[in-house]
Amino acid sequence: RFDQIRPKIEKHIREVKDFPKKGINFRDIMPLFTNPQLVNELCVVIADHVRHSVGHVDSVAGLEARGFLFGPQVAIQLGVPFVPIRKKGKLPGATIEASYQKEYGEDIVEIQEGAIKQGDVVFLIDDLLATGGTLRAAANLVVKAGGKVGEAFVLIELTPLNGRAKIPDVNLTTLISYD
Ligand code: PRP
Ligand code: ADE
Repeated sequence: RFDQIRPKIEKHIREVKDFPKKGINFRDIMPLFTNPQLVNELCVVIADHVRHSVGHVDSVAGLEARGFLFGPQVAIQLGVPFVPIRKKGKLPGATIEASYQKEYGEDIVEIQEGAIKQGDVVFLIDDLLATGGTLRAAANLVVKAGGKVGEAFVLIELTPLNGRAKIPDVNLTTLISYD
């Protein structure tokens, strides 16, 4: 099923050189959203993959901001809650946080307390894996909350940045890889 949809998704990813700064080859997923039928097909295929290859999950957790474009739709397909993982200071009430390394310095992501319960199996979703810092922090958050990452899924993996090395404990599936 991934093999069928991969070329269609690839056609909708735009390469933007030197964005947001010189030397970065930005992979823009926004053209995908001009094609709602394809977005829906993608979310159905991801949900099927979860059912057949991951098994039961208690929730789908997506990463701000671009993980929010797919996560809720996959969660709806699976009939499980969506857990937003946000940058620090955006979620009200008690939160659990995890810090991570970015290109320069550190950042923090959070979930709301109670969003992930002891023993929950969580499916993590984001648009893209670069250095792996973001998914590392997300996986740490899940574990901190008492849950377990069933699998992490990203649409795009930037292979040369070796983000996978940061998450050896996480089962990672990617749709498209760029060298
Ligand atoms: C991008 C992307 C991933 C992250 C990957 O998000 O959507 O979440 O970077 O990078 P990493 O593997 O090196 O951690 P960004 O932080 O730009 O935020 P945005 O989605 O809010 O634009
Ligand atoms: N996030 C981190 N690196 C990126 C890239 N090259 N393209 C799109 N999003 C990114």
